Amino acid sequence: MALIGTDLEKAIALLNANQIVAIPTETVYGLAANALSEKAVLKVYEAKERPRFNPLIVHVANLNQLQGLVAEIPDTARAMMQAFWPGPLTLLLPKSKHIPDIITAGSPLVAVRIPRHPLAIALLEKLPFPLAAPSANPSGYVSPTSAQHVQDQLGEKIEYILNGGTCEVGLESTIVGFPNATDVRVYRLGGISVEDLSPYVKGELIVNMKAVQHPSAPGMLESHYSPTVKLIIGGPLPQNLEGVGALRFSTYHPDIPTDKQIILSRNGSLKEAAINLFAALRLLDSLQVKTVYGEYVPDYGLGKAINDRLRRASF
Ligand code: TXA
Ligand code: MG
Repeated sequence: MALIGTDLEKAIALLNANQIVAIPTETVYGLAANALSEKAVLKVYEAKERPRFNPLIVHVANLNQLQGLVAEIPDTARAMMQAFWPGPLTLLLPKSKHIPDIITAGSPLVAVRIPRHPLAIALLEKLPFPLAAPSANPSGYVSPTSAQHVQDQLGEKIEYILNGGTCEVGLESTIVGFPNATDVRVYRLGGISVEDLSPYVKGELIVNMKAVQHPSAPGMLESHYSPTVKLIIGGPLPQNLEGVGALRFSTYHPDIPTDKQIILSRNGSLKEAAINLFAALRLLDSLQVKTVYGEYVPDYGLGKAINDRLRRASF
């Protein structure tokens, strides 16, 4: 079992000793290590059982700490940093020579962001290095939005979980890249919506999360966030509702017992649905049903990212 607490000094000591520590961010909990130490970063891949070709996001406390990590910042990227950092937006930028290849899986681009969580910022401000941190879940499972979620799955593999409460966004960061001087490409939908980004894009805003099996380039694995129970999203319900549960946006399905249903937001708020989504996906396995029928949420704003995660969870 890992220790759960709010002891920054303990987290700092472990990270300085090339150990891994789970940390809170506003999106999901991350499994953090010294991004400049290949030895430390290897422990992250091992604990998550993550394929080495899947690169990691580098986290910093402020723009000063970003200096030296990236070789160049396009104007559009700079405008987005000003608008959305600290916050759930990750930018793909040309890496400097200080970023080890293991972080980017060999790509010349590094993913960077400033998280918006007071404990994460306080930690990063005190460290002499940036933190590489993927979501703190075993590869292919649902991302953790509380310290207990991390404990439940990785507690045996790590010493310390820095407890920052429940994540205020609940979805991972939006990942964007800059294919040329004017266009912007979204690689992963997340806590910053496409609508939020669009005023900052001079050229085309390309939303293309084309799934790949070996994402050596900007990457996403298609099946992800999967609960163990069979989840069907958006399909019609079967005639026989025995052994059937439901994952719903804001209202109960009238024909299924309420204790076999999970509601994402009773007042129909996409923001609240995002906060609750990953905890809900974890709960599906405890409904004691054979199949869960889920519905998509309204497909705008954060709803697009929620629907993306629902779709992936249903594979
Ligand atoms: O909200 C978040 O982004 C959380 C918190 C902890 O910051 N982190 C997170 O990390 O979700 P992870 O590793 O679970 O997802 C990061 C995604 C992966 O799909 C990875 O392939 C992609 O970012 N990625 C990371 N570095 C990349 C790079 N250099 N080029 C392309 N894609 C990259
Ligand atoms: Mg992840």
